[in-house]
Amino acid sequence: MAQDRASWTVKDEAALEELIQLMNLRPEEGALLKDLGPKAKEHAPTLTKTFYDRLFAHPNTAEYLKDVSLDRLHGMVQEWFTGMFCGVYDTEYARRRLRIGEIHVKIGLPVRYPLAMIDVVMPYGDQISRESAKPEETVAAFRKVLAMDVAIFNQAYEDNQLRHLAEMVGGERLARRLLSGS
Ligand code: HEM
Repeated sequence: MAQDRASWTVKDEAALEELIQLMNLRPEEGALLKDLGPKAKEHAPTLTKTFYDRLFAHPNTAEYLKDVSLDRLHGMVQEWFTGMFCGVYDTEYARRRLRIGEIHVKIGLPVRYPLAMIDVVMPYGDQISRESAKPEETVAAFRKVLAMDVAIFNQAYEDNQLRHLAEMVGGERLARRLLSGS
């Protein structure tokens, strides 16, 4: 049977703060990424084109895009992408990104789809990061920010599942034990 873990007590805002600490992004890394903000903005429209081409090529993902404003979505994903080059990755940043994850939970989108889309996002971010005067450090910093985003996106899904299961079984500790298979 799974033993209780300290991480189980870390919730909401504290989970975001913990994640920021875990990633340990240094201010110098933030500064390297911030320098590339204008370049990220420049490349963002090409990224979103590739992004939505991929989603439209697959019927199960295209289904989600039928009744939404694609102009708006293109703009939002461009903003999301350039946001990774903002230079400051604090609780407010994490909260904004968590809200994006929550929107995807609400539309009933299986988490495998957004996670798989990292395959489209990473090469663009890497390519832009290589244009820095310190390419290796900047690619590493970009990867950290991207990993943090993936973790936050996933956190939105886990929070939702745990909340519902905890309500059903009468407590979060029991819900966590059930989810660990014990
Ligand atoms: C890396 C993965 C993804 C990122 C970064 C992303 C980003 C975003 C952002 C920033 C928004 C706007 C949120 C807002 O209104 O504030 C959004 C909305 C939306 N996304 Fe995604 N998305 C991702 C994956 C997907 C996938 C795989 C699908 C569908 C197959 C999808 C479908 C949608 C839809 C339908 C909305 C509009 C929701 C609504 O306003 O009702 N997204 N996405």
